[in-house]
Amino acid sequence: MTFSKGLAGVVADTTQISQVQGEDGRLIYRGISIDELANQSSFEEVSYFLLKGKLPNPSELSSWTDKLKKYRKLDSDVEKALLSLPTDMHPMVALQALLAVLIHKEKPAQLKDKEAHIETSAFLISQLATLIAQVSRRRRGLPLLPVKDSLSHTSHFLYLLQGKDPDTKIAHFFDVAMILHMDHDFNASTFAARVIASTEAHLTSAISGAIGALSGPLHGGANERVLDMADAIKSPDKASAWILETLQKKGKVMGFGHRVYRTLDPRAKILKEILDTLAKDSKTQDVTFDILKKVHDTMIEELSKKEKDYIWPNVDFWSGSFYRNIGIEKIDFTPLFALARVVGWSSHVIEMWEDNRIYRPAAEYVGPDHVPYAKVK
Ligand code: CMC
Repeated sequence: MTFSKGLAGVVADTTQISQVQGEDGRLIYRGISIDELANQSSFEEVSYFLLKGKLPNPSELSSWTDKLKKYRKLDSDVEKALLSLPTDMHPMVALQALLAVLIHKEKPAQLKDKEAHIETSAFLISQLATLIAQVSRRRRGLPLLPVKDSLSHTSHFLYLLQGKDPDTKIAHFFDVAMILHMDHDFNASTFAARVIASTEAHLTSAISGAIGALSGPLHGGANERVLDMADAIKSPDKASAWILETLQKKGKVMGFGHRVYRTLDPRAKILKEILDTLAKDSKTQDVTFDILKKVHDTMIEELSKKEKDYIWPNVDFWSGSFYRNIGIEKIDFTPLFALARVVGWSSHVIEMWEDNRIYRPAAEYVGPDHVPYAKVK
């Protein structure tokens, strides 16, 4: 048996859903490059594509869009549970708690009943969006807002979160950001979802576990930490010194590095382009973006000196700066990752259930053998 810390380089299963081409800085969803999808598609179309395995025709897209709308409203017991949670709970923890309430709403289905699981996925995608927005409103002391039937999935999310219809350009950029976050082959949260689902547990349990995995700072939680760093740095002229000190202390700079990418993460490239466009169109200075640009340049320069030029910005480096620019609070950044990634998690579970085998790796035991038992006296 071979051993690989963090399962690096271990092929755990096959998938047709997405592939990270780490050497080339390319990401594909079912063979289509993320750049093409980000430029031309929509949340509804890409979610259909990932879950169903084919691009929708106009009538399929329209009924999928309607289905997502149909599931926006929370049942009263879920809303009651939401209102009973402490307002200072981290939203990622609140989401896990609320998904526990959603589990008993999942209709029982045969493991290979793909259509039934896609229906559950549509329910979870929509419910999660409403939950994320309403949890945020409640934390900010705002009343829960009734859902409406108009607007696309991501625009409606922004409407719920911010209490007004989003500006068309911002809504488009936000939709692109969500497409970029939708899937990423066997990342930690997807793997967590797969492990849970491999026991034939509920799809909702797998999504809840994935949310737990995503919350950590080495994974989705990094987007929040990047802004913690920008806020601690305070101004662009202090960024270089801050980074040099962090690297000297062998600290990690959040939003940099990746297990698979050995060059620029294509998602980071697109998010940076969005930020550049927003900066060009704006009359006010975006201090966070300016600090991060300095952090970026210092990191690239320093890492090349240390022969670590394989460490580049990942998706989390620029995403928070974009979310802040459009008025979203830092604490809500990681839930936004979940808002999109729930599509990937569900797609992977459904694909895996077509030919399931429980995950059960081996451990290399390094403890003692034959220790005599000593009874407590
Ligand atoms: N800043 C400084 N040094 C780094 C960084 C960083 N962000 N990332 C990796 N390194 C160094 C690391 O210290 C190590 O050096 P050495 O060989 O001297 O010990 C070397 O690069 C290899 O790093 P590693 O931690 O062994 O790599 P890994 O594949 O186990 O971890 C990672 C990948 C993403 C967890 C790691 O790069 C990291 O902690 N980055 C910061 C957190 C972050 O941005 N996470 C988001 C990841 S992308 C989106 C997502 O998955 O959610």
